[in-house]
Amino acid sequence: MEIILASEMGFCFGVRRAVDMMEEATRERGPMVSLGSVVHNPQVVGKLKERGLDVIASVDEVSSRPVAITAHGVSESVVRDLEARGVPIVDTTCPIVTRSQQWAKRLVEDGFAVIVFGDPNHKEVRGVLGWADDKAYAVPTVDAIDDLPHDMPSRVGVLSQTTETEGHFAEFVRTLLEKRMDGISELRVINTLCNATTSQQAAAQELAHKVDLMIVIGGRESANTRHLAEVARDEGVETYHVESAGEIEPAWIEGRERVGVTAGASTPDEAVDAVVARLRELDEGR
Ligand code: F3S
Repeated sequence: MEIILASEMGFCFGVRRAVDMMEEATRERGPMVSLGSVVHNPQVVGKLKERGLDVIASVDEVSSRPVAITAHGVSESVVRDLEARGVPIVDTTCPIVTRSQQWAKRLVEDGFAVIVFGDPNHKEVRGVLGWADDKAYAVPTVDAIDDLPHDMPSRVGVLSQTTETEGHFAEFVRTLLEKRMDGISELRVINTLCNATTSQQAAAQELAHKVDLMIVIGGRESANTRHLAEVARDEGVETYHVESAGEIEPAWIEGRERVGVTAGASTPDEAVDAVVARLRELDEGR
């Protein structure tokens, strides 16, 4: 059985940067906390914990220890709250997410309603909404456009969660125009998609054509990993999303000649190596 790795996958620049910054901060400042998980990956979180980084769920749990803001970012009010508490802040927000936050703020200041195409419960989206002074709406699907209020300002700015696919974002904007043309006097579309994500999705799509099984590695909560799996499934190939090598079942590879492997932006190289080793082991046992 041939195992083919996607040409682009795994740790993106934003996650690598955040993990490096947190490792350096714990070395220099000692034990600290992060507001939420650093990345959607249990192995990475476990390793950082060994180095003295504990995860807290909310600002209310902040003590005197330095606080890290994760790569997904937080709302402006959380930043101000942390500043008011006087704790040292290590801000590892990915610069691509910061750009989205700044656009949200600027559009609202310029009198636009802001629509963020993405999952309203995702940390990145909640953070971006929090820079828009409560004048932004998260819309997770094309169908949910119908739920937008009809008394929004007629000037509308549209952003996307960074991990969405190009195709879905384009379809969203097209449908928004079709459904709400009568209420829109000006539409500004800001491409806030992340290049790292879109090129990983393109690589997964290309690989899906060459194989008869795809394994996508990454945290279950990881939006970009889930989108990678969706992209592969959309190409018609059987696809499994796993967090670790141990989840791969022998039956999955029965009768397969070529297996493709890709990994989300928060998946470390070791997790990919472990999956490849597991696939080889299962193949030898066939
Ligand atoms: Fe940043 Fe893109 Fe990674 S937004 S955290 S570089 S997936």
